[in-house]
Amino acid sequence: MANNRLLEREIPLCALDDLEERQSIELVVEQRQLFAVRLGNRIHAYWNICPHMGVPLNWVPNKFLDFNNQLIQCSSHGALFQIESGRCIAGPCSGDSLQPVKLRCENHHYYIVANQPLPPAPLNIRAQALSDLEDRE
Ligand code: FES
Repeated sequence: MANNRLLEREIPLCALDDLEERQSIELVVEQRQLFAVRLGNRIHAYWNICPHMGVPLNWVPNKFLDFNNQLIQCSSHGALFQIESGRCIAGPCSGDSLQPVKLRCENHHYYIVANQPLPPAPLNIRAQALSDLEDRE
């Protein structure tokens, strides 16, 4: 089924100086997780979904980079992604890419741009199971 849901409004992300070099942060927008990483004087952001199995990349809050702080790393099976492009350069989804989050920068403050497509909402298995039970009663 196609996902046509768009982000309805612009959302402030952070200022460039809120992050140190190669520091990352995560947040939830419209029930979807995203993360951002500072590289030099730019911030790059991606939806927190590994292209290998569709799960979040990180196990530890706000930790997305590998041991050397050079690449984004998926904690499930170790796929490595370039920070600036989101392209997977090693691992089970090599050649695939993270889905970028479009940002707007104004005076070193970053905003999540409105009207961009949202990825599918994560499946809440527990909520779905409870809903299914209620439907049976
Ligand atoms: S789920 Fe990310 S590498 Fe497998």
